[in-house]
Amino acid sequence: MTEQTSKPWAGRFTEPTDAFVEAFTASVGFDQRLFRHDIAGSKAHAQMLAHIGVLTDDECQKILLGLDQVQTEIESGQFQWSVSLEDVHMNVEARLTALIGDAGKKLHTGRSRNDQVATDIRLYLRDEIDAIQVELTRLQTALIDLAEREADAIMPGFTHLQVAQPVTFGHHMLAWLEMLLRDGQRLADCRKRMNIMPLGSAALAGTSYPIDREFTAKLLGFEGVTENSLDAVSDRDFAIEFCAAASLLMTHLSRFSEELILWASAQFDFVDIPDSFCTGSSIMPQKKNPDVPELVRGKTGRVNGHLISLLTLMKGQPLAYNKDNQEDKEPLFDVIDTLRGSLKVYADMMATLTINRDKMEQAALQGFSTATDLADYLVRKGMPFRDAHEVVGKAVRLGVDTNRDLAEMSLDELQQFSTVIDSDVFEVLTLQGSVAARNHIGGTAPDQVKAAAARARHRLQTIH
Ligand code: ARG
Repeated sequence: MTEQTSKPWAGRFTEPTDAFVEAFTASVGFDQRLFRHDIAGSKAHAQMLAHIGVLTDDECQKILLGLDQVQTEIESGQFQWSVSLEDVHMNVEARLTALIGDAGKKLHTGRSRNDQVATDIRLYLRDEIDAIQVELTRLQTALIDLAEREADAIMPGFTHLQVAQPVTFGHHMLAWLEMLLRDGQRLADCRKRMNIMPLGSAALAGTSYPIDREFTAKLLGFEGVTENSLDAVSDRDFAIEFCAAASLLMTHLSRFSEELILWASAQFDFVDIPDSFCTGSSIMPQKKNPDVPELVRGKTGRVNGHLISLLTLMKGQPLAYNKDNQEDKEPLFDVIDTLRGSLKVYADMMATLTINRDKMEQAALQGFSTATDLADYLVRKGMPFRDAHEVVGKAVRLGVDTNRDLAEMSLDELQQFSTVIDSDVFEVLTLQGSVAARNHIGGTAPDQVKAAAARARHRLQTIH
């Protein structure tokens, strides 16, 4: 049987396509990655056509077996992709027809590439979101494990990147976890909205065949069918929404990366990123560079860029389908690959990250991180907060001048600032006392961190 290479739409044309235009308009170079979902969509469509009597059972059977054969050829690398057949849809269909003859030509009854591609992308993205959620859950679990293990490790908490108050490392990890839990919810939400089937919209207006859309939707695992054919073939808001969720997720990873990069530096030395996630320098033998977080921070730029590409791609389009939409794929695919890769490497890295408790605690001892605790202590003894603020300010001044922390001063020295200060003050001036005092839901006390980590583990199971 000879391969079909002439264009299915060639009928109304008298001249062949210009060679450069052919290459310029083709998408097969990048949309071939949709082949599995394209074939799954075609199989469901064929079964529906047989169900309503447009195809005979024999024709349907031939199509299903033929499509299996096409899939095997593609998966084994034998398939000959043809640029003159433009895209994945026409390549698959042409090969099917070459394999099974006339039945193959009947597959496209009652549909168009416009509803076909809108369906394929949804099917594909749905699977990719599921794979992304698996990696995200691995990362979230690694953060919960780390938070539980280091629930009472003390580090300086920062505002303006200046030492503010002591916090526990576990609490800090759970802050990142909260962001990532919301990211997971956003992806799940986006998947739900996307999981509605456009097939049956045909080119733009629907089809005159008595199609059973619910039948096809059920076969493909869609939750319902789209209500409006013009909308269904034209909007790519579901892809934009996914990219927006991905941009936020990458932005969270980028901020997290910034901290890891700082913390891994000799100046901080709070964490050790395992060698397997770092590289060296070709000229400076001492270097161990935190490449993984740096690259994730860097890759956030391209994901944000793709979001803007898709928004811009959409903004000028009248209804319904326009060829512009072919440009949705490369940005979307790159967002998927970048996000999946970043989450995978992050999950692996966070599962093996170790911390330097001493270094963190030393850093928390600098910068008068328990100054607020002293003020709160004075308030508990009856002093108005504004007065307490001033008293502590003076004590800090002495500390700066004599290069000592508040906890290193004698009771006599502290009492010169206020006579309400007693020997019990030293309980609140310690780092342990400071964090333990913040003992409420959302606070940094080690007991709260352990409880929050346990709750997070439970939330992780019920969130999607
Ligand atoms: N390759 C096209 C795309 O990705 C498929 C739909 C083409 N439809 C058309 N009427 N030319 O959007």
